[in-house]
Amino acid sequence: MLDQYDTFKPVMWDDEAVCLLDQRLLPGQHQYMYCRSVVEVAQAIRDMVVRGAPAIGITAAYGVALGARQRYAESAANWRHNLEADLQQLAGARPTAINLYWAIERLRRRLDEIHGDPFPVLLEEARTLHEEDIAANLKMGELGASLIAPGSSVLTHCNAGALATGGHGTALGVIRSACSGGKLDTVYADETRPWLQGARLTAWELLQDQIPVTLVAEGAAAWLMRQGKVQWVIVGSDRIVANGDVANKIGTYSLAVLARRHGVKFMVAAPTSTIDMAIGEGGAIPIEQRDPHELLSCGGQRVAADGAGAWNPVFDVTPAELVDAIVTERGIIEQPDAGKMAQHMGEPR
Ligand code: MRU
Repeated sequence: MLDQYDTFKPVMWDDEAVCLLDQRLLPGQHQYMYCRSVVEVAQAIRDMVVRGAPAIGITAAYGVALGARQRYAESAANWRHNLEADLQQLAGARPTAINLYWAIERLRRRLDEIHGDPFPVLLEEARTLHEEDIAANLKMGELGASLIAPGSSVLTHCNAGALATGGHGTALGVIRSACSGGKLDTVYADETRPWLQGARLTAWELLQDQIPVTLVAEGAAAWLMRQGKVQWVIVGSDRIVANGDVANKIGTYSLAVLARRHGVKFMVAAPTSTIDMAIGEGGAIPIEQRDPHELLSCGGQRVAADGAGAWNPVFDVTPAELVDAIVTERGIIEQPDAGKMAQHMGEPR
């Protein structure tokens, strides 16, 4: 599936390296960056060469395989012990997306059974995880699209597309599936300051698939809804916790509040690898704060008045009560709460 799917691939394994489509340069330039060490992989995740919760999990999984190969070459006796520092480094690259830890832990669980060279086993596990992510997105696309009435228009936030995953996307997977079923009238994408994932990435990605897209400034969302122009807000997530609270790109919470005010439905599409049942409620999710300069500048040019400071949390938490549906590869959770989340994840309450 990895070789056939999608016209562009944000993450690939390329013989000796993890190969990443540099998302900092899109849509203007299409350049791949080759990461040949754990240090380079962790740096690429931190610097947002690759971004989006599932995509950074997949990248980290290939990074673990890369690290194990290096550690085994250095010492066949101590590679397991020495690899621990690499796992820590990868896990520390970004704090909010649980998929990063989930992927590292999944590869870690394979370590004990390995005799001899760990690389083939871990590379195979990373590839499997990558393929499973694409399959999950295709399933979510189908399920999410089933909720949307023909002739609807939708608003999405940030980029939760193929670029942010193994392929097809979560929120954009639902939008792709709904479009191919002829259900959608207009797809609105908000620009998503300060990184402009909507304007740069979502718009580019949808246009690659000949899906027309209409950009709006984030401040236009209330007025868009007020005019009755959208029926669904559809977003992805970086972490969904045990009571159904949802962490996603800063600005998601505002959209959920606005959606409820205007009778617009709010859907979160995310694989179960994004669900963290170890955290009870959204207030305990670590929220990444990034460099204020990301906000003070635009396209590398300072735009804010000299001397102005900035507060730059890059995720927020939407309370479960504002969510109409969480869609995973296992099914649809309508009006999520702790009981429904536990049942969905097969956990005792
Ligand atoms: O800072 P980013 O670009 O990594 O943030 C990405 C998002 O917030 C996405 O909506 C989320 O990871 C879901 S991606 C399928």
